[in-house]
Amino acid sequence: MNNIKIKQIKKNTEVTKNWVKWLNDKDVTKFSKNRFKKHTLKTQKKFLLSKLKLKNNLIFKIFIKKKHIGIIEISKINNLKKFCYISYMIGEKKYWNKGIGTEAIGLIKKYIFDKLNFTKIFAGIYSNNKGSMFVLKKNNFKVYQRKPKFFKYNNIKVDKIVLIFKRASQTSNLGKYS
Ligand SMILES: CC(C)(COP(=O)(O)OP(=O)(O)OC[C@H]1O[C@@H](n2cnc3c(N)ncnc32)[C@H](O)[C@@H]1OP(=O)(O)O)[C@@H](O)C(=O)NCCC(=O)NCCS
Repeated sequence: MNNIKIKQIKKNTEVTKNWVKWLNDKDVTKFSKNRFKKHTLKTQKKFLLSKLKLKNNLIFKIFIKKKHIGIIEISKINNLKKFCYISYMIGEKKYWNKGIGTEAIGLIKKYIFDKLNFTKIFAGIYSNNKGSMFVLKKNNFKVYQRKPKFFKYNNIKVDKIVLIFKRASQTSNLGKYS
């Protein structure tokens, strides 16, 4: 276990140069629409401000030993139906394949169930994003829906896979959030 932490972002001044670097790294963003844009501190501050104004969105930094290495987001929060979506990015590539993505999802699940008291979490991924599929399955997410040829990836169309985790299943209990 990596003993990672997540911390909610409250201000748009919390953008960092490293975060912008990750967004401009095509390896990191190859499964995200972010790959089509050029990112700067200014554009990211503006983007973050728009996110922070949303009532149905929460965004967190992922830390390992006080080092900020990624982002995890809760979106489309539906308080009535008690569900939301998650998305995530380990931006520092040297931290890939160390179990950190799996652990971060475990933490956000705990936050969603303990603090928001929701019953369902969804995540939508590119069908060829093997890493993302792995981390969700390791967290007991199940395939919920497949939308054929939904995304454009390089010159091919790939499916969108929506996965779901329902509260009745086993929840993980890893690390701490603040
Ligand atoms: C996808 C991502 C979150 C995975 O995080 P991670 O910390 O590297 O994943 P983990 O180390 O927890 O991996 C869990 C398992 O998946 C496997 N895995 C991870 N990435 C993989 C890949 N690209 N291909 C195949 N297997 C992969 C790991 O080997 C591990 O398997 P194991 O437990 O049998 O050893 C991370 O690579 C990332 O942030 N990528 C860029 C952004 C992105 O794609 N976000 C998701 C958008 S939906």
